[in-house]
Amino acid sequence: MAIRNIREIGDPVLNKKCKEVKEMTERTRELIDDMLETMYEADGVGLAAPQVGILKRICVIDVGEGPIVFVNPKVVETSGEQTGHEGCLSVPGKSGVVTRPNYVKVAALDAEMNPVEMEGTELLARAMMHEIDHLDGHMYTELVEGPLYEVGAEDEDEIYDDE
Ligand code: NI
Repeated sequence: MAIRNIREIGDPVLNKKCKEVKEMTERTRELIDDMLETMYEADGVGLAAPQVGILKRICVIDVGEGPIVFVNPKVVETSGEQTGHEGCLSVPGKSGVVTRPNYVKVAALDAEMNPVEMEGTELLARAMMHEIDHLDGHMYTELVEGPLYEVGAEDEDEIYDDE
């Protein structure tokens, strides 16, 4: 396992559409392990493969309930709405207000390429939308309502720290 370098906004890799994972290889397994390690080391709750420079449809999330690995995730259902602060490791030191669905259902493969479905509300729903957006080259900064704030200036409890 290794900590990977996290790409920052302005790096063109963050605006590219990622490719589906066709099979689980040793290299891809290592990528997933490294992504988890990199996310935890950065004290984050989510990380997508393009953030470490790899254009594969993989993201990892941990909102404090244990690690989630999504391979080729798809949003299959959303409902409701939540508006709150969001951040991203690729936009260090900043947060902004983003409206997301309050409920999300995702269909994906796990790290063993078994089909999984997962539902999330609130922070987990926000994290799933944010990370899956990364796989299509989208950053939360495209959705921000109002300015980007300096982290620390806002109530940190409300910040979704993908970082
Ligand atoms: Ni992010």
